[in-house]
Amino acid sequence: MNYIKEYWEDQARTHGDSHVASWGDNFMLDLEFEAIRKWVASGDAVLDVGCANGFSTFRQLESCRVKSMIGIDFSDQMIKEANETKKKRGLEDEIRFQVGDVRSLDFPDNSFDVVYTTRVLINLPTWEEQIIGIKECFRVAKPDGKVIFSEAFWEPLMLLNSFRSLCNLSLLVEHDFNCYLKKSQLEKYLSGTSKPFQVDEFSSIYYLGSRLVREMATNPADYPGFTNPINKLFFDIEKEFSCKGIGIQQAYVIDNVK
Ligand SMILES: C[S@@+](CC[C@H](N)C(=O)[O-])C[C@H]1O[C@@H](n2cnc3c(N)ncnc32)[C@H](O)[C@@H]1O
Repeated sequence: MNYIKEYWEDQARTHGDSHVASWGDNFMLDLEFEAIRKWVASGDAVLDVGCANGFSTFRQLESCRVKSMIGIDFSDQMIKEANETKKKRGLEDEIRFQVGDVRSLDFPDNSFDVVYTTRVLINLPTWEEQIIGIKECFRVAKPDGKVIFSEAFWEPLMLLNSFRSLCNLSLLVEHDFNCYLKKSQLEKYLSGTSKPFQVDEFSSIYYLGSRLVREMATNPADYPGFTNPINKLFFDIEKEFSCKGIGIQQAYVIDNVK
């Protein structure tokens, strides 16, 4: 089995329905959730591509009376967890989860008002494969729909690392199987499709705090996981004031003009 898939199967087995199956950084999950939520309206048919155990998919469902909500993921174990949670919460008719691959979505053309990924395309090993996933999301979204890619990007990682090296901190590296998208490459591709897009840089202040100031102002070893109060402080600031450039997580919101 593909080792990326095996990694996610294992995350689901170890962490069950917890957000940790996808990411331990609960503050980032919150910011990411808000970045998507803004674009989901009542009556929409929504597809969450790479939904993991559904932790954030359920939150989107609960925040808005959508017409339909479907989550797909290539990990059987993640989908099993999502289906168990659905049953426990009595949401049988309101949400559907199924196994599927972003590179070959099992839906007809023009099916959804909103299609989104959160940290999923980065799991595809090359830009060529990422393009296949991107095109699939465009295909299944309606022509007047929105496609949102909330992903990790290479340029802000480089900028953040240059600040870290000035402060004598070690460089951050991508998880070995991740392939962060390049903003320049994605924007060039999107310009070629003539689809209008905007970029939501929703994480720069938070990254400044949690991936730079935190290590300068405190001893990170004193705070396991993401419990350092600096993280919470910069998360709170991020909601009121954001800056640009060093937030590795960004959302491209695209009008799916066909
Ligand atoms: C970092 S997690 C993000 C999960 C979820 N989107 C969230 O925001 O919590 C990446 C997820 O993408 C899934 N994934 C990776 N490659 C995929 C693919 N080719 N097709 C569908 N899902 C994929 C993994 O199984 C994993 O659940």
